[in-house]
Amino acid sequence: MIIAATTDFREAARRRLPPFLFHYIDGGAYAEHTLRHNVSDLSQVELRQRVLRDVADLTLDTELFGTKLAMPVVLAPVGLTGMYARRGEVQAARAAAVKGVPFTLSTVSVCAIKEVQDASSAPIWFQLYVLKDRGFMRDALERAQAAGVTTLVFTVDMPVPGARYRDAHSGMSGPNAAFRRMVQAATHPRWAWDVGLHGRPHDLGNISTYRGTPTKLEDYIGWLGANFDPSIAWRDLEWIRDMWKGSIVIKGILDPDDAQDAVRFGADGIVVSNHGGRQLDGVLSTVRALPPIADKVKGQIRILVDSGIRSGLDVVRMLALGADATLIGRAFIYALAAGGEAGVTKLLSLFEAEMRVAMALTGVRSIAEIDRSALVRGDVAL
Ligand code: GLV
Repeated sequence: MIIAATTDFREAARRRLPPFLFHYIDGGAYAEHTLRHNVSDLSQVELRQRVLRDVADLTLDTELFGTKLAMPVVLAPVGLTGMYARRGEVQAARAAAVKGVPFTLSTVSVCAIKEVQDASSAPIWFQLYVLKDRGFMRDALERAQAAGVTTLVFTVDMPVPGARYRDAHSGMSGPNAAFRRMVQAATHPRWAWDVGLHGRPHDLGNISTYRGTPTKLEDYIGWLGANFDPSIAWRDLEWIRDMWKGSIVIKGILDPDDAQDAVRFGADGIVVSNHGGRQLDGVLSTVRALPPIADKVKGQIRILVDSGIRSGLDVVRMLALGADATLIGRAFIYALAAGGEAGVTKLLSLFEAEMRVAMALTGVRSIAEIDRSALVRGDVAL
């Protein structure tokens, strides 16, 4: 099939993946209102076309936490990435290296930190949740530091997991889930051969390394529910700030007051995120949450944003509204499932080309020049 946009990768991924995996990545919480609004609100941000402004020398280069990026796009942490393609975290991290952007490894990845770090020259960021087992957190931070990771993405919007109704229907969880997944794998032979058979071991690499015993995927949903710590508050994070030598990015900020607290805490960055609409359905889309946050903390902390970004145009929209960079999750997983490392490389090339066109036709030549003047309504009256 012809792949020309993220939607094509999504369709290719839908065909290739067993439904429990496709719906796990594609779905969101409850009735998925926020998931949809992330995309539809963003599409309503109108770019302001400008002409005859000599845009021959465009550059997408930028810098984050002391690292040079070829464009302001970071591969987001996604649990179970290694189930979407054979050793998926390694393949995605290699694509990130080819395109000059960072790859963020999830706590609940299939490949452990070392496997990914050894296989890719991309900047590897590490994502950590607030877990009840502080021993695991300490161990993971030490391993990340030993592997040379310098940016920690600390996810704070999961004190409890949101309910994803699609997972119960698809066989990711719910009655007879293991049996249903087996049947789905058997009826998706390309995936079964490539990932199901040759992508093993299928366990949660970072957690198995810590426990010294394999962590089965069957444990995944249960593990998420049982291990998140709902008692967490800013004061509990101080030991992380003391222990972690590199940059700290707090992921899951949706409110300007929380953004201000992240500045007070001494974080280097925030990710404005509603977890891709996977946590509390009914909260603001990130494109609507971003402008007041930028008004409050821009310049004091680096602002990243995710949720709903499906193209390079969306990246430019988010930058115009105050972001310094964006994370992409679903978009790169669709590409990974559809075409492995080459798929992710192609997706990033698409983003790059789309950004170039958006910048050329809004009359800006560098990332630093992108601001609200690139929009028809700088006040974003969505
Ligand atoms: C985990 O972070 C998920 O969104 O499933």
